Amino acid sequence: MFITFEGGDGSGKTTQMQLLAEWLRGRGFDVVTTRDPGGTELGRHIRKLLLHGGDVSPRAEALLYAADRAHNVATVVRPALDRGAIVLADRYIDSSAAYQGAGRTLGEDEVRGLSLWGTEGLMPDLTVFLDLPAEALASRLGGSFDRIEAAGARFHEDVRRAYLRFAAAEPERWFTVDATEPRERIAETVRARVAEALEAEGRRPGGGEP
Ligand SMILES: Nc1ncnc2c1ncn2[C@@H]1O[C@H](COP(=O)(O)OP(=O)(O)O)[C@@H](O)[C@H]1O
Ligand SMILES: [Mg+2]
Repeated sequence: MFITFEGGDGSGKTTQMQLLAEWLRGRGFDVVTTRDPGGTELGRHIRKLLLHGGDVSPRAEALLYAADRAHNVATVVRPALDRGAIVLADRYIDSSAAYQGAGRTLGEDEVRGLSLWGTEGLMPDLTVFLDLPAEALASRLGGSFDRIEAAGARFHEDVRRAYLRFAAAEPERWFTVDATEPRERIAETVRARVAEALEAEGRRPGGGEP
């Protein structure tokens, strides 16, 4: 089972992914966590290039994200899924579609197509969307208000609207949670949804097949 976490910066993805990983491990499941970008050694180099590499044109940026994802899927995600592990990913293909597709000049379908080619079509079984309005993010960040200004509250809302659109289009894959709730409440909601998905697949602790 492949589960991804999506949402804007500061929405609680890393927090919830770690809480879910701990819970699943506590129940005896084999769990692998990864991040996108930067889940492999190559990915960490790509991540540095993306964050600090100076000017990156939109198509070059899309290709770098797709390259990172291709390598992460080939060397980390697929091998783990093949041995029966549950893989949790902090961002995946929908981040590219939401950020580069909605926020920039490239089309969502183009960006998605690129990543799907790179990953040989691997899509998540379940995507948890942490939905946080820009004003809630601003108050969460408290003192460091410039972080949201740098990213831009408008941009945050554009990205959020793209995610909401994706979730509405594929309701069976997307699970939207109100990210303004306390973290333990959100974790409980996510656990209940994941338990349901595991049940549906007949999965038992130990990472094996039914
Ligand atoms: N439900 C929550 N309520 C309030 N603060 C939260 C909640 N979840 C996470 N945080 C805090 O918000 C910040 C961003 O959380 P994080 O999990 O790093 O988000 P992301 O990975 O989406 O950027 C952290 O300081 C974290 O402790
Ligand atoms: Mg994070």
